Amino acid sequence: MRKPLMAGNWKMYKTPADTRAFFEKFLPLVAGSKHCDILICPPFVSIAAAVEAARGSAVAIGGQNLHYVTKDGAYTGEVSGPMLKAAGCASVIVGHSERRQYFGETDATVLQRTLAALESGLQPVVCVGERLEEREAGRTEDVLATQFKDGIAKLTPEQFAQIVIAYEPVWAIGTGKVATPKMAADAHRALRARIEQAYGKAAAAAARILYGGSAKPDNVKGLMAQPDIDGALVGGASLEASSFSLIVNF
Ligand code: PGA
Repeated sequence: MRKPLMAGNWKMYKTPADTRAFFEKFLPLVAGSKHCDILICPPFVSIAAAVEAARGSAVAIGGQNLHYVTKDGAYTGEVSGPMLKAAGCASVIVGHSERRQYFGETDATVLQRTLAALESGLQPVVCVGERLEEREAGRTEDVLATQFKDGIAKLTPEQFAQIVIAYEPVWAIGTGKVATPKMAADAHRALRARIEQAYGKAAAAAARILYGGSAKPDNVKGLMAQPDIDGALVGGASLEASSFSLIVNF
């Protein structure tokens, strides 16, 4: 049985003070939530405050990106996997569509960053998803297949077993346009079929695939009712303790 994972991606929101205020409200609301894993990914500067605030709770903290070089070096503006690990992170988001769209991330760099995360002892949450024009051209499954083949399927079975995949249709991110449960279920099924092809039945059955893209308290139940959806990667609705706790407690 796959344990659901509810992950919050705070993007470029929340200072350390905002972070402390969030956890003060959020932790009591999820104190009894044992049915799923909970992860929050603040901006780098607020990770320390989040780790401190979440100490003793079941909430894990993650980064939103990492450099693909794991050794210290002259890389102005970058943060390494070992640094995230030392700061108390358990996970890191890799290949978010905003990284792909604005910062030149490709399937090849997604793979490099995933390997760096694994080498650093962090669980990578690897994002895939089609753009609107790709969906409208009927290319969703092809796009997912390519992103999977070039960005994920080069991992060894042992490495693959440690990652989480997030299906995030780009047209649904931050737009309020959620994929219907059927659209999401179709994409998740297609991804699981790829996993089975590459890594076998047991790996496919064990892999967690999250849905992301305007997941909200009022649509999370319908999404989570789909057999291939194992959790959510939540942007906007993870910024408020009240709405994210409703998602966690779907
Ligand atoms: P959203 O973002 O929930 O605000 O659509 C999801 C994401 O980008 O992970």
